[in-house]
Amino acid sequence: MAKYRFLVLNGPNLGHLGERQPEIYGDKGMADVPVLVRDLLGERADEVELEFFQSNSEGGLIDRLEKARADGVHGVAFNAGAYTHTSLAIADCLAWIGVPCVEVHLSNIWARTDEPLRQQSLMGKRVIGVIAGFGILGYALAVQTLYQRLKD
Ligand code: DQA
Repeated sequence: MAKYRFLVLNGPNLGHLGERQPEIYGDKGMADVPVLVRDLLGERADEVELEFFQSNSEGGLIDRLEKARADGVHGVAFNAGAYTHTSLAIADCLAWIGVPCVEVHLSNIWARTDEPLRQQSLMGKRVIGVIAGFGILGYALAVQTLYQRLKD
């Protein structure tokens, strides 16, 4: 059976999830995401194949998104970290590759009112939707949403 392939893509400073400022980003790492996907999808999780990639560089993320397009990946759950707020280049990439993307944030970026720049997303216009504030569960929710969208 051909599987639905989803890329879970993380940007800068997200390579040490669980260790980095756990009071903001939580104490769980990416290794827990497949377990959460199975919790949400149950047996349907067998239809799904997850790929994980993290890069601290803008070009590395764009190269990986272009590869996702070339590989025919079905969707991307993408936490671009701080590039969310600053990178027109990533927004431009999402605008053309034609791979459905859900924007994910561990923290609720809109509640971080002490840092107004974090409330802005340049990529928001180029994604299906945004999930923010649920820690790593957000990645699993994004995968569930992408899966459901393909099924409907
Ligand atoms: C983040 C929020 C960004 O503002 C920040 O730069 C990150 C993580 C989040 O997941 O909450 O690196 O995307």
